Amino acid sequence: MWEADADDLFGDVAAKPARTSGARRSVSGELTGEDIDVERSLRPQTLSEYCGQERVCENLKVLIQAARNRHEPLDHVIFSGPPGLGKTTLAGIVANEMGARLRTTSGPAIERTGDLAAILTNLEEGDVLFVDEIHRLNHQVEEVLYPAMEDFFLDIVIGKGPAARSIRLDVPRFTLVGATTRTGLLTGPLRDRFGISYRLDYYSVENLAHIVERSARLLSVQMDEDAALEIASRSRGTPRLANRLLKRVRDYAQVRAGGAITWNVAAEALTFFEIDELGLDWMDIKILQALTSTFRGRPVGLSTIASAVAEDASTLEDVYEPYLLQQGLIVRTPQGRQATLAAFEHLGITPPVS
Ligand SMILES: Nc1ncnc2c1ncn2[C@@H]1O[C@H](COP(=O)(O)OP(=O)(O)OP(=O)(O)O)[C@@H](O)[C@H]1O
Ligand SMILES: [Mg+2]
Repeated sequence: MWEADADDLFGDVAAKPARTSGARRSVSGELTGEDIDVERSLRPQTLSEYCGQERVCENLKVLIQAARNRHEPLDHVIFSGPPGLGKTTLAGIVANEMGARLRTTSGPAIERTGDLAAILTNLEEGDVLFVDEIHRLNHQVEEVLYPAMEDFFLDIVIGKGPAARSIRLDVPRFTLVGATTRTGLLTGPLRDRFGISYRLDYYSVENLAHIVERSARLLSVQMDEDAALEIASRSRGTPRLANRLLKRVRDYAQVRAGGAITWNVAAEALTFFEIDELGLDWMDIKILQALTSTFRGRPVGLSTIASAVAEDASTLEDVYEPYLLQQGLIVRTPQGRQATLAAFEHLGITPPVS
């Protein structure tokens, strides 16, 4: 595996399938081939095109400028936060703004230490190596990565038993950009080796409306300002969803309303696609119904909810739960997840007296 062709390992992670599963697909759930193309074409390339996350952008601008002035690679960076908030986009922007080449791979793709050695020794000075889902790197690979990040060398053991020998290889000075949806799963030593760490937050409706307007311009779609706000307010604070809803609304407008997106058309289309005014889709509603009706507001463990709604527990935790928590519709208690009064109200169900 030592001679692994590094190019095989640089898969385009933007094209990875969506994490959701289940017989019925939600508008906000699945990435079709067309969606992937659109997602790529809408991806901002520079910090000035990137909307929102002002603190992160301001901060990065200073650090990038300083590194460029010193003619040094940027320190290693990690982006964390729920799916679709712009981690992969920022990795590309870091490379562009540094004037560096971007190489892309992901935690699960680097199975053996030899894979990592092949990737790192094929880098050139100043390259940006983007490792998506970095929390899924295995333990041995991580151990080899530490000295590469810190001192730019690799210690690799070749062979087995008495014939085994260790060799040391120099690695060009590079910038590692990691992305993770699960900061909690990063090991301490790995987290500590990133000099720069950012947590991305859900976007405000105003910022999302700007993103929707920018995407509409790029897609040559005619849209009213209040229609952009309507789409933004149902996008769960997430640019990926905002872009996807815009595409669905565009389809609806084309078939039912002659192409232009007015507020009325947007609201009608979103109702047609079962996206409610909080941006909840049918899976969110199913989760809330399970917590409020099936379990009558009692605290429930994640795996129990997962089987009640026939969804994978880690998808629930990564994709659905953060937004429901942020909206105050559920809470996490030591006994499990529990629906709040707001969830009962949202569904129009009377809460149990206790
Ligand atoms: N700040 C932004 N401004 C404009 N568009 C954005 C912004 N952030 C993200 N997007 C859009 O949202 C899409 C999804 O972003 P991205 O792929 O970077 O998310 P991610 O955080 O890497 O998600 P995942 O965790 O699923 O990999 C991009 O194609 C891009 O078009
Ligand atoms: Mg990504």
